[in-house]
Amino acid sequence: MSPTSTPHINPQGAPIAETILLPGDPLRAKFIAETFLEDAVQFNSVRNMFGYTGTYQGRELSVMGTGMGIPSIALYSWELINVFGCTKLVRIGSCGGLTEGLALNDLVLAQAASTDSNYLAQFDLPGTWAPTGSFRLLDHVYRAAESRGITAHAGNVVSSDTFYHAQDDTTERWAKMGVLAVEMETVGLYANAAAAGVEALAMFTVSDNLATHAQMTPEQRQTGFAQMIELAATVTEL
Ligand code: ADE
Repeated sequence: MSPTSTPHINPQGAPIAETILLPGDPLRAKFIAETFLEDAVQFNSVRNMFGYTGTYQGRELSVMGTGMGIPSIALYSWELINVFGCTKLVRIGSCGGLTEGLALNDLVLAQAASTDSNYLAQFDLPGTWAPTGSFRLLDHVYRAAESRGITAHAGNVVSSDTFYHAQDDTTERWAKMGVLAVEMETVGLYANAAAAGVEALAMFTVSDNLATHAQMTPEQRQTGFAQMIELAATVTEL
């Protein structure tokens, strides 16, 4: 249940489930609620960052937008975890593939998140931290993908503060270290989840590939996204 409000989430008594899907785009949250949830009620509209709670195959599930970038997902996920009691948080988004082995529409599960952001500095650890996703959630979604014949790749991603990079070789240098894909949020989610002892997973469809220069059409984006929502929602089984 939702005991209170925060600067960014004001549920006004509406419930927030322990399991929540987190697309970047709040209109995608609305689409998911309208298309996949039953009996959905809206729990947030502050700054149009829409959030909803309903049921999926009989189990309680919430969905809320996070905005783009680490600061945005970090503040929403912090409040969801530390104030509203979310314990299973699943980011669903798109990523840029960094290797030729990643085809458009393939699924990437972020085992860990590297970053060029300074977000992790606040934890003041005596070294370089590698925030990881929940193995339990990752394993569950990986197996669900496999059983549906969906190609899934699990590995390291890089959460970047920049979509447009000043140096030409930025993404190549990450790719040389085996990093599968670039996106802009996961490290904030994984760090907050680890700090609070809850589970998080970030999963993406490959919307563009920086090695092959392939790019999805808007129609392809929609198909891949629907498939990913169904896979993400399987974590309600856990
Ligand atoms: N999300 C999807 N494609 C991306 C890219 N090329 N860079 C950062 N985030 C992305």
